[in-house]
Amino acid sequence: MDTTSQKRLAGEFAVRYIENDMRVGVGTGSTAYWFIQALGEKVKQGLRIQAVATSQHTEQIAASLGIPLLELNDVEALDITVDGADEIDPHLQLIKGGGGALLQEKMVAAISRRLIIVADASKYVGQLGAFPLPVEVIPAGWKHVQRRILAMSCERVELRGQSHPFVTDHGHYILDCYFGQIPDAQSLNLALHQIPGVVETGLFIDMANEAILAHTDGHIQVIRRAADRSD
Ligand code: A5P
Repeated sequence: MDTTSQKRLAGEFAVRYIENDMRVGVGTGSTAYWFIQALGEKVKQGLRIQAVATSQHTEQIAASLGIPLLELNDVEALDITVDGADEIDPHLQLIKGGGGALLQEKMVAAISRRLIIVADASKYVGQLGAFPLPVEVIPAGWKHVQRRILAMSCERVELRGQSHPFVTDHGHYILDCYFGQIPDAQSLNLALHQIPGVVETGLFIDMANEAILAHTDGHIQVIRRAADRSD
């Protein structure tokens, strides 16, 4: 099975978690895309839900499928969010933001009772850090943030888009930070937040409840956070 088929399998699998009257956070990226398609199909068949999108792109896709949408500011809590990730470690700590939507993704995840991650199995790693960590920054001071991150044993810090910087939905830039290894994601997240100009990081700490991983042989593996397991 190729990677696209694995993403599709994981994304579509997650739709079974959605029940009538739920408020659902809807993720961004090429895996969440398949979840949104399956959710749209269920809505056409009569499933009653309301959704909050994690990006403008997702909002457009969901609207085109007739999924009822609410603004993030207009909900107090969400029952569940289904989203992708760039790396997932055995404790379900995540790197997200490869698609540039990390800020709204984290705000949506933060008000969700459950965060379900959908991914192809290659995203599952022993330790975070091989994937460059996206850090969302205020455009006016990005070079100062870059210098501060380089001083934190980071091998390389690149402005996404370089001479034509990528601009996020919220008008910020992204620095892709090549740490190579992140042995203590929680401490790194806190340290990055101390730098003036950092808006948000792609480290999602203690947020995910489950990861649905689709393997190349077509089988699905569900990993639950230790605190959520009954065994
Ligand atoms: C979007 O900003 C990201 O957090 C995505 O969820 C993440 O990059 C995974 O994307 P894919 O599902 O496209 O691999």
